[in-house]
Amino acid sequence: MAQLTLPTGSQVKRGKVWPGPVGANGKRPKRTKNFRVYRYDPDQDANPRVDTYTVDLEGCGPMVLDALIKIKNEVDPTLTFRRSCREGVCGSCAMNIDGANTLACTKAISDVSGSISIYPLPHMPVVKDLVPDLTNFYAQYSSIKPFLQTQTATPEKEWKQSPEERTKLDGLYECILCACCSTSCPSYWWNSDRYLGPAALLQSYRWLADSRDEATGARLDELEDPFRLYRCHTIMNCANTCPKGLNPARAIGEIKQMMVKRSV
Ligand code: SF4
Ligand code: SF4
Ligand code: FES
Repeated sequence: MAQLTLPTGSQVKRGKVWPGPVGANGKRPKRTKNFRVYRYDPDQDANPRVDTYTVDLEGCGPMVLDALIKIKNEVDPTLTFRRSCREGVCGSCAMNIDGANTLACTKAISDVSGSISIYPLPHMPVVKDLVPDLTNFYAQYSSIKPFLQTQTATPEKEWKQSPEERTKLDGLYECILCACCSTSCPSYWWNSDRYLGPAALLQSYRWLADSRDEATGARLDELEDPFRLYRCHTIMNCANTCPKGLNPARAIGEIKQMMVKRSV
């Protein structure tokens, strides 16, 4: 008989409610916000849980990452998450906030009314708490050979590109590999072992569109596969969630057009 409930070990339980802040007058501060944060440690024999933290917004920066850092520094040092640049450049603080994948450092606390739910990027193995295991994601990025490939002799000074040719890379080179798009893509959820996903494919198109690259044929050969490229069904979650405003679905469409053009 089909199993209609989650295995017990995977059910997310209600976690700890941590004591809230107390002002100098012994009272609760006026401006507070509750954060409901996913907690999981695969090394412990316990289910994932959601802990609740209350943050005094007066002493906190404006972004969700500011609140997480405040919680870690002042309330619970065991809370684990990635971050580095805190200005939307490194991509390491990608997580699911209020139901959407985004960057904690550019997501304003004031954008969310009520308490804020924070989970790791969906459908990825969890290293701990809000840290997903991106090993497969990076291996897929590596597989598209994200570097200039040429056969002609290297010029003495530089590989030249006209301003028009350079413009073709706009909307592609800005990708910070945060994985928000791939982990919001249903096709990637079900086939991440074989489908490259929107991030790796956008990056692949970044090199296909580069006038200086001379490996177009080999790059397209690598993508000519029912899974690697063609699992995109234009659901558009990727474009809706990208925190840099990029459109991986459009890039995937461009690759498909290149495939058609070279076959006629
Ligand atoms: S396309 Fe956007 S969402 Fe996807 S990895 Fe790049 S920056 Fe992140
Ligand atoms: S458009 Fe393609 S890559 Fe983007 S979410 Fe949909 S299936 Fe995934
Ligand atoms: S900390 Fe670098 S993108 Fe958020």
